[in-house]
Amino acid sequence: MICDNITSTNGHLRFAGRDTVELAERYGTPLYLMDEGRIRHNCRVYRENMDRLFPAALPLYASKALSCKRLYEIVAEEGLGTDVVSPGELYLARSAGFPMEKVFFHGNAKTDADIAFAMDCGVGYFIIDNPDELQAVERLAGERGIRQKALLRLTPGIDPHTFEAVSTGQVDSKFGIPIETGQALPFVARALELPHVDVQGLHAHVGSQVFDSQVFDDTADIMLRFLGELREKLGYTAAMLNLGGGYGVRYTERDPVVDIAGELAHVADHIRRRCRELDLPMPAILMEPGRSIVADAGMTLYTVQSTKVIPGYRSYVSVDGGMTDNPRFALYRSAYTVYLANRMDEERDFVCTVGGRCCESGDVIQEDVALPAPRRGDVLAVCTTGAYNYSMASNYNSVPRPPIVMLDGERDYVAVRRETLRDLAAREA
Ligand code: LLP
Repeated sequence: MICDNITSTNGHLRFAGRDTVELAERYGTPLYLMDEGRIRHNCRVYRENMDRLFPAALPLYASKALSCKRLYEIVAEEGLGTDVVSPGELYLARSAGFPMEKVFFHGNAKTDADIAFAMDCGVGYFIIDNPDELQAVERLAGERGIRQKALLRLTPGIDPHTFEAVSTGQVDSKFGIPIETGQALPFVARALELPHVDVQGLHAHVGSQVFDSQVFDDTADIMLRFLGELREKLGYTAAMLNLGGGYGVRYTERDPVVDIAGELAHVADHIRRRCRELDLPMPAILMEPGRSIVADAGMTLYTVQSTKVIPGYRSYVSVDGGMTDNPRFALYRSAYTVYLANRMDEERDFVCTVGGRCCESGDVIQEDVALPAPRRGDVLAVCTTGAYNYSMASNYNSVPRPPIVMLDGERDYVAVRRETLRDLAAREA
């Protein structure tokens, strides 16, 4: 199986030890399942290893991967901070009682209203993206008579060789201020002059779904070298360095298994060595994992509605969800592992494209999937959907969004209820 929280007994697929066919019957489909134990395990891998490897460290859960109140509660209980990118994520975190001092507020286009809301919530840190935002944060913090803690987002000029839309660290990026062009130094110098901005350090993020350790080594090198330059030219020593998110996860057998503990040990070693060479005190290290906290803790269940064989072309299997609950194939052609949950013991000799229910041909969940020839009523499972599925879901075609059901040992509970037809009309005049 693609992940060790997935097994099969008596022809039925089990997830987090639970029979998925029974869960589909009980809660209906489409259905997002989340394995609470796996989320907690993934949080601990980051927290325990980072605590052990660095003199000071804090993993921040990147809530864009999946934002709902229950998740913020779990992440807070596991001792992580969180990064939010909108007032919406911040509002959900606050509603869940997330400790505001451990919230880092991201975004390259924060409005005055966003900034004011975040300050009034008592957000711990702003991650300031650009000089316009810097001025706005200074003004709004001044109005409140506070000194707002902040990190400054820089682009280290690294291409992580992943899909273009999820790369952010290259010089040509809408995020951050580039080091290579000489713009970063005056940006930091300006921030250090401001009375209401308390610059705690720097932030860099190069991309998502990264498998190559070299990418993190290179990012750390560039950022530490720049910290050295700041000390030399501005007499400034940063307390924090945030290296962004991004260890990749295994969607199919073709993806490697990532040893996160090993990767963290490697990058910690590298950072320690560089700090010694540069004679820099080791800053507190932050990271912002999103995908690797929740992806393999998720699975989506659908019910097959039709099978169509077009001789000489291809076969289509259509299910009761699709790009509205998982737009990742449509957007990035992302690979997934797919099973027929109620017929796990049968031969997988039928190759097909799994399509959704939306009125557009691009509504595809996966191509070239081998399954036992599906029949109407079969339960189809798509694995590793915990990240960037619910958080990217839409109401296209006025399709209501599925619920999130959490699995915790023998217990299962609804963390987010299914959207209803009435919800769809709720905001209309
Ligand atoms: N920090 C920052 C500043 C980010 O931009 C991101 C992801 C993360 C952390 C979390 O990265 P992760 O650990 O999840 O790889 N919708 C796309 C992914 C976009 C990621 C954007 N930034 C997808 O479905 O693949």
